[in-house]
Amino acid sequence: MSPFLLTRTLPEDATEAALRADVLRGLTDSPKALPPKWFYDARGSDLFEQITELPEYYPTRAEREILIARSGEIAAATGARTLVELGSGSSEKTRHLIEALTDLHTYVPVDVSESALTQAGHALIAERPALHVHALIADFTARLALPETPGPRLVAFLGGTIGNLLPAERAAFLSSVRALLSPGDALLLGTDLVKDEQVLVRAYDDAAGVTAAFNKNVLTVVNRELGADFDAGAFDHVALWDAENDWIEMRLRSRTAQTVKVPALDLAVDFEDGEELRTEISAKFREGGVRTELARSGLELTHWWTDREDRFALSLSVAR
Ligand code: AVJ
Repeated sequence: MSPFLLTRTLPEDATEAALRADVLRGLTDSPKALPPKWFYDARGSDLFEQITELPEYYPTRAEREILIARSGEIAAATGARTLVELGSGSSEKTRHLIEALTDLHTYVPVDVSESALTQAGHALIAERPALHVHALIADFTARLALPETPGPRLVAFLGGTIGNLLPAERAAFLSSVRALLSPGDALLLGTDLVKDEQVLVRAYDDAAGVTAAFNKNVLTVVNRELGADFDAGAFDHVALWDAENDWIEMRLRSRTAQTVKVPALDLAVDFEDGEELRTEISAKFREGGVRTELARSGLELTHWWTDREDRFALSLSVAR
């Protein structure tokens, strides 16, 4: 009997329907916007992996440093027997945590990418044959039904991805995570921190242009999936710091007045010269704000760990 199980909670055609709805809403909105989740086709995921290795993009290295330093403490504080990881991707950083969780019975990686789940799941089982892996193909912002597994449960949401949600979406997300937990269960959350504006902007506008290519990749996705005729070369990559909202915004700025056709939606979209399309927000946090947002969803912050340069934080909170 294999300890690897894969459950599909997303219908095969749900992704396309969601893309169509997001593109229709986003391109007819004012200002125009597209949600960041559509960056991540195979090429986008590969570009993101390249971003994590750029000298300017510190969050991945900073979070890994904290995980390496604190996994023992996380294991001692939670005693987790089930680890649920939302947006697990390659599960690369999570390895440190899994190794430290000596009582771990089941790992539940949740991701929209079936190939990432299968690869990571089999690699883990090879290293730790007694570990049960029950992978879920699911969107972490959707309502999740978790398998029946032994407690205590630890839910991990790493990478600072919570920053890609708008404040209202964050509140809804944290409440849905709280609903997965019993009192005493825990959430391990990665959050990038507010810092010098130059450092932040450079992390999202690197010298090699990898982030620019990542940003423009969303146009390629819409072209392929919905038959659109976006010319990626007719847009400039923009990254700016919004000091009022404490977030980085990525945009694509039209270099000319142009009309883009989206046949699958029977849509023609006019861009003015210089008009911007928002493609991502990446919010940055402070300890007090994280504590407050967690508390509003019934989670009490118990630990706050940062890297040596105070760039990134991992927090542990417990369900009340
Ligand atoms: C998906 C949250 C890890 O917002 O920093 C990287 C995505 N966007 N460069 C982030 C991203 C541009 C990233 N995370």
